[in-house]
Amino acid sequence: MMQNRLALLGGEPVIPPGTIQPWPPITETDEQYVLASLRGGKHAFGPNCVAFEQEFAAWNGNRYAITTNSGTAALHMCVAACDCSEGDEVIVTAYSWSSSATCILHHNCIPVFVDIDWATMNIDVTKIEAAITPKTKAILVVHLHGLAVDMAQVMALANRYNLKVIEDACQAHGAKFQGKKVGTLGHCAAFSFNQNKNLCSGEGGMFVTDDEELMKKARMLWSFGETRSPVEARDYHAYALGWMYRNNDLTAAFGRAQLTRLDHYLAWQKHNVDLLNAQLQGVPHLILPTAPPQHEHNWYNYVMRFDMAALGHQADAAPFRDKLVQALRAEGVEAVVWQRFILPQMTVFQAKNAYGYGTPWSSPHAQPVNYDLTQYPVAQTHCDTHACLVMTLRYPNGTETMELIAAAIWKVMENVTQLEGDPT
Ligand SMILES: Cc1ncc(COP(=O)(O)O)c(C=O)c1O
Repeated sequence: MMQNRLALLGGEPVIPPGTIQPWPPITETDEQYVLASLRGGKHAFGPNCVAFEQEFAAWNGNRYAITTNSGTAALHMCVAACDCSEGDEVIVTAYSWSSSATCILHHNCIPVFVDIDWATMNIDVTKIEAAITPKTKAILVVHLHGLAVDMAQVMALANRYNLKVIEDACQAHGAKFQGKKVGTLGHCAAFSFNQNKNLCSGEGGMFVTDDEELMKKARMLWSFGETRSPVEARDYHAYALGWMYRNNDLTAAFGRAQLTRLDHYLAWQKHNVDLLNAQLQGVPHLILPTAPPQHEHNWYNYVMRFDMAALGHQADAAPFRDKLVQALRAEGVEAVVWQRFILPQMTVFQAKNAYGYGTPWSSPHAQPVNYDLTQYPVAQTHCDTHACLVMTLRYPNGTETMELIAAAIWKVMENVTQLEGDPT
């Protein structure tokens, strides 16, 4: 058999099956917290929810935290808390998870997309100002993959134009900019605790802010438009339009237990990334992720790009990237393509129809917006050329696994010509 034959073509995989450990690790602490909640008899919004809010606020350095049933719910609460009204515009990155932008539609507001910066993969802060119009109410920044946006520049713009800043910190637990944690840098923020996240409670999220007014508005939306939380005497009156975004006690108990180990997990992940970065230096045609000075990456997602021009695949970048990912996966690397579409390309935006009759774009309060895809060339190139490692860099995966992952990546990239003309 040809030496170094790729596993995709019948060679021996570098990483033996079963090597990579799943996320999240479950310990006795998780079992104790969840069992105590189960036996506690309060399964809706209960004492673990209250404690989770307090503990997360303390961990992140916020005055207020409201626990939700998803990060998307917390994002919608941010949009509402910032007084965004029908037809108002919210500026957002062209490349993220869909709900970074659909949360804006949830409040009948209009997303205005801005292209990304190639190096950081985040919104290009130098292009935000040109997207501001008299209709702009807020800037929704996404600290994508766990790397904070340059908030000094964003806040300076927001102050100049009197805009609110919402942080989508759903992937960025513990990430910092200029020494300050995300979620404390804008006016309000959303975190997610779904299965993949560094803080996992199955599903769930957290709205955070230091502003009492924003907290009150977010809380009203969170629970049926009521003004009192479920632990206070309620009058069950809808003072405004509300949703049901509350968390439940079992989920919050799981989240609390995981929170006790979050700092340890984040430090471990950072160590793994340092190891991997060192071992991947010089891999042909591979562009490694970086963090600019003053940014502390949490490495939620380790995102690599392939140099398609050098590989001779600029014209068929996405299909060839898919083949590279297939080859990596065959070697046992759990590489994935994260997002296959840039946000403005998604049908809901191209069709400009969220609730029928073209709403919210057809609102008399809205002005026309342009989602011509030629405006987002960097996001598109990134989208077509990236591959990432999400959970494999997490605890308890360690040095040996990082060495195997690096060896597998070297093998694929050094033998990439084997993929030319391969019909798989
Ligand atoms: C950047 C980003 N924003 C928002 C969300 C939404 O979070 P959730 O799935 O908890 O609603 C996610 C994760 O799914 C995300 O990665």
